[in-house]
Amino acid sequence: MVERYVMSIDQGTNSTRCILFDHRGRLVSVAQKPHQQHFPRPGWVEHDALEIWHNLQRAVPEALSDVGVGTDQVAAVGLANQRETTVLWDRRTGAPLGRAIVWQDTRTAPLVEDLLQRPGEEFFEERCSLPPSTYFSALRVRWLFDHVKGLQERAQDGEVLFGTMETWLIWNLTGGADGGLHITDVTNASRTMLMNTRTLTWDGELLEFFGVPRPMLPEIRSSAETYGEARALLPGVLITAALGDQQAALFGQTCFSPGEAKCTYGTGGFLLLNTGNELVRSRHGLLTTIGYKIGDQQPVYALEGSIAVTGALVQWFRDRLGMISSAAEIETLARTVEDNGGCYIVPAFSGLFAPHWRSDARGVIVGLTSYITKGHLARAVLEATGWQTREVVDAMNADSSVAIEQLKVDGGMTADNLLMQFVADVLDVPVVRPMVAETVSLGAAYAAGLAAGYWPDLEVLRRNWHRAAQWLPDMDPALRESEYDNWKRAVERSLGWVR
Ligand code: G3P
Repeated sequence: MVERYVMSIDQGTNSTRCILFDHRGRLVSVAQKPHQQHFPRPGWVEHDALEIWHNLQRAVPEALSDVGVGTDQVAAVGLANQRETTVLWDRRTGAPLGRAIVWQDTRTAPLVEDLLQRPGEEFFEERCSLPPSTYFSALRVRWLFDHVKGLQERAQDGEVLFGTMETWLIWNLTGGADGGLHITDVTNASRTMLMNTRTLTWDGELLEFFGVPRPMLPEIRSSAETYGEARALLPGVLITAALGDQQAALFGQTCFSPGEAKCTYGTGGFLLLNTGNELVRSRHGLLTTIGYKIGDQQPVYALEGSIAVTGALVQWFRDRLGMISSAAEIETLARTVEDNGGCYIVPAFSGLFAPHWRSDARGVIVGLTSYITKGHLARAVLEATGWQTREVVDAMNADSSVAIEQLKVDGGMTADNLLMQFVADVLDVPVVRPMVAETVSLGAAYAAGLAAGYWPDLEVLRRNWHRAAQWLPDMDPALRESEYDNWKRAVERSLGWVR
């Protein structure tokens, strides 16, 4: 019998990957294409949506040909994507209208200040369960309307389409200007500030408030169902899943029961806790988001602690400061010293996300003395990820009645043993990593495979999860608390920098 596979497409902040998985959830083939990061002004981050589509056009055939797999052996395709990144394009020609504005971009900060004054946080909280922040898509659409003449009118006339990256890619995969599907899934829609988190439909009052015309919006679908044929690249193969990448990782880590949590360390760090079919509102700075929705089943909600900058700080240390030549080197450099030497880095490059939600924060390095070496800075870079995780876990524990007892982790940074040990130390709980660290891709594949009948149920997926590594806490409690206190003082100094 010919072996069949599920294809997963992960359109991330730094690259687009295409991965094939087999029945046991094992990775069979990977093709990865990075795309350029554009930083045209301080605080601005942009991507070229066409470059990303072209990258996918190269990645898909490469993933297949590398292992001699034919299109007929692909049982289904699932997508995961960087969330909130906003692209507008011309319905007729398919050409993007300018570069995509990335989730890290802070150009909408003045708009956030306005929203906080009027109509105030509750208005948004009640409808979309999100606080006003530069993070979410609706503000970017508003910004574009305010800066590109005639755009809002064209959108009203149905000439302009809005999408996050899964919408853009599905539209292109299913035919583009020649009849492509214009859809999104509930998890991605829940990050726009335009979807009502109870009804899972576009919220009329929010659309009116932001001035977003309905004709430009994609249809909201579940995360796992048959959408349509990926005819542009995979004739005959159906796209059967789409999820925001962090929700995909929750799925890939098989956090299917309320109380299960994972943290993915990529460009940013994203800790999601499954709260079941119940919409739980946070009182401590977490987001309420849709975890996933399979077909016509009830949605599964999640609480999310989003950290804007984790791996991106290592990237900055490498590319902008030139302190290391590869990301992996940071661990070696950090191990040249015993501790941080009194130095702390708060990487508030995009303001601070959870649990602070302060668009007016900017990065600080504190505690500098002539004693500090590159090694101490490398430690401070890694420790920033640990402390930011601690802040989010504290908020989660305060919001839910049960404390997190173990943290499932994944993503590129989990290869760093020093960092993972530090996370276990500062959280004071075990940190565990599964065999397949590519959980974003795996989650999209799982959802697609479920919808296509490739896997029968969630239990089978659960049995595929195997532990590859574990880090146990081993830090003196007094030291942990005094270091945490220093971190909090450093955070205080980053707040209110932008006036
Ligand atoms: O919300 C932003 C997040 O989806 C980006 O994830 O992995 O592309 O950095 P990543």
